[in-house]
Amino acid sequence: MPRFFVLNGPNLNLLGKREPGIYGGHTLADIEALCVEAGARLGFTVDFRQTNHEGTLVDWMHEAQDAADGIAINAGAYTHTSIALHDAARAIRVPVVELHLSNVHAREAFRHHSYLAPAAKGVICGFGAQSYLLALQALQSLTQSAE
Ligand code: DQA
Repeated sequence: MPRFFVLNGPNLNLLGKREPGIYGGHTLADIEALCVEAGARLGFTVDFRQTNHEGTLVDWMHEAQDAADGIAINAGAYTHTSIALHDAARAIRVPVVELHLSNVHAREAFRHHSYLAPAAKGVICGFGAQSYLLALQALQSLTQSAE
């Protein structure tokens, strides 16, 4: 059974309380439960993590190289600032899908650029908690087409 890392960056631990008009009312624990449930239904396991630290995200991406079949990542604001995440995604062979709860292109100009996107297989944004499930489905179909 494929194993996917779902990695979450800064401030996402505050979901539910943080700007619910933009990010919705789900907590990160709610979203983890939705991801785990989707895995049980569709046939993959989920290792779901959150950190506020850029280097920890880099470490987890390296770990995924041997421990996972793909990465779905909501890097939060590091999406728009981190060359280190770009380099990490390029350095590993497992596919990376970038995701966001909000439609970053309908928001402030500084959210329109992603350092990660050019190194990712694709980007999903704007569907709230559903963005996580869509990213996992994308990883699953990438894994199946690689078989
Ligand atoms: C976000 C969008 C980012 O611009 C922002 O910095 C976040 C959350 C999202 O999921 O919509 O922290 O990644």
